[in-house]
Amino acid sequence: METQQEKKLILFVDDEPNVLSGLRRMLRPFRNDWEMDFVASGQEALDRMAQKSYDVIVSDVRMPKMDGCELFTQVSEKHPKTIRIALSGETGEDAGLRLLELAHQRLSKPCDPEHLRTTVSRACALHGLLSDPQLEALISQMGRLPSLPTLYAELMAELRSPNTNFERVTQIIAKDVAMSAKILQLVNSSFMGLRSKVTSLTQSITLLGLKTIRSLALSVQAFSQFDDRKMKHFSLDAMMNHSVATATYARKVAEMENHRDMADEAFMAGLLHDTGKLVFIERLPEVFDKAIVLSHAKGKPLTEIEHELIGTTHAEVGAYLLGLWGVQDTTLETLAYHHRPGDCLNTSFSPLTAVHIADMIESCPPGMPLSEMLTEGSLGYIEAMGLAHRIPAWEALAEETTSRAKAG
Ligand SMILES: [Fe+2]
Ligand SMILES: [Fe+2]
Repeated sequence: METQQEKKLILFVDDEPNVLSGLRRMLRPFRNDWEMDFVASGQEALDRMAQKSYDVIVSDVRMPKMDGCELFTQVSEKHPKTIRIALSGETGEDAGLRLLELAHQRLSKPCDPEHLRTTVSRACALHGLLSDPQLEALISQMGRLPSLPTLYAELMAELRSPNTNFERVTQIIAKDVAMSAKILQLVNSSFMGLRSKVTSLTQSITLLGLKTIRSLALSVQAFSQFDDRKMKHFSLDAMMNHSVATATYARKVAEMENHRDMADEAFMAGLLHDTGKLVFIERLPEVFDKAIVLSHAKGKPLTEIEHELIGTTHAEVGAYLLGLWGVQDTTLETLAYHHRPGDCLNTSFSPLTAVHIADMIESCPPGMPLSEMLTEGSLGYIEAMGLAHRIPAWEALAEETTSRAKAG
């Protein structure tokens, strides 16, 4: 179904001749798939890019005259379709956070060729999926998408500053009363598993950490831009609960599988995984309502019906919207593939794995074994990762939460 692979055009930038020749040597085996150019400065890179349109630029971060951040800033303006991958040594925190915004992916030096190859391929697959002309046409028919919530942009700026402080973060959130109320409501929901009732934002931030609060703020803002009044068979509140529960399970699954480093991202992606549905309720309320009804009536997955009626699914549309908002690639990947993880080129445990499993746990009716919820595709994906024996342990998560909710 995928169109045949054309040779990808990739530009490598590094001011150190040794690194550049090392890359050239190391990447020789990939020359059938990639057409590669190598240049030694940001300026040269921009000159080349003015002549050819590159699919990917892989650049060193620390370079004299024009550094990687500056180069990527210009590339993002002049060639927004080119995927930006940063190759960094140890950089200061500042550059780290700035890069997070400017680069689609980050790799650290020295970089193993296979890792570089999969990173580039994954990025190309994701961006290919999201810039598919058919998807773009469908989305443009839906009208202008909501822009990045300003409060989130403000929060990001604060979190990016070298001396982020809790108080300022609290002030930013507190400006929006509805948002603060919603955050407190979520913090106190049984899924968060906090023992006592939390009554202030400061306390929430201390207990949950800045990253969790940032994720909650983004999802609350995302949700507040849409409205479900035109929908008969859809409730925003129910979806918010589903998202928080999925996020919480996703975090737990990541922790249980010894991927604590992915826990925060799994939580964030869990909160946002169904964002595409919000776009549908706003732009295509009647069709989407019909899709929900049909999916129940026919006992078919919602994504299948969405595909039939709309031509795309909430998974791709959600990833597309958050891509416009500058959300990081791995989160977009999770959104785009959350119903068909086996199609993602990343075959190792990732936030996608955690969210996919969490979504299943959350949607599983009480009393039904989790294994029965899994489609052939998702079972294959879990088996390929060697994790099939973990299914009962994940199942126990759902039971734990249900009994806690009942007790509390
Ligand atoms: Fe979904
Ligand atoms: Fe879901």
